[in-house]
Amino acid sequence: MQIFIDSGNLEKIRELNDLGVIDGVTTNPSLVSRENKPFRQLIKEICMIVDGPVSAETVSEDFDGMMKEAVELSKIHKNVIVKIVNTPQGIKAVKECTRRGIKTNVTLTFSAVQALLAAKAGATYVSPFVGRLDDVKEDGMQLVRDIRQIFDNYDFGAKILVASVRSTGHVLEAAKIGADVATCPAEVIENLFKHPLTDAGIKKFLDDWKKVRDKGLDK
Ligand code: E4P
Repeated sequence: MQIFIDSGNLEKIRELNDLGVIDGVTTNPSLVSRENKPFRQLIKEICMIVDGPVSAETVSEDFDGMMKEAVELSKIHKNVIVKIVNTPQGIKAVKECTRRGIKTNVTLTFSAVQALLAAKAGATYVSPFVGRLDDVKEDGMQLVRDIRQIFDNYDFGAKILVASVRSTGHVLEAAKIGADVATCPAEVIENLFKHPLTDAGIKKFLDDWKKVRDKGLDK
């Protein structure tokens, strides 16, 4: 399973990309609003850092507006994936993007039948928002299971991009289900590395190595 970082923060993106654990990036208008940089410039700079898909979201609500933005965004860099909301106008735009060879990520997907429509329109990625479903006492990961089954039933090419990830548990479940990608906030990616027994193990090894060194046997 690929891991994308869900962020518009260049510093964090660079830091985690340097560790070699980032396969791509997703952004959204809320994440962009936290950065003090013109949107298109920000996307371009992200593409310079990460050699993988970078989702940039359209904000129009109508087909013509979405298409205009999709064409502009796709010209920023070959790795740009145009993010389009899962609405009737959005699905129509996804179908047209598919026809024109523009790659898409269908965002704000909260049901399996919405995912089915996106896949039928030729979406490159479909993003179920698991955390926001959990927030309203629904089961976000069950949605991912349902989408996996539907996409496998019909051999849809769309990739399942698990979004609105809140914990390492979400990442684990996504991988067990066979999702294609989990896009995670930086903090969740950082937590993937952590285990208290790893820290305790390092401390014990270093303490014991000090004994070896003190005896002059560290050669
Ligand atoms: C995904 O592409 C979205 O940007 C993101 O995962 C939304 O997450 P949130 O529900 O934490 O805002």
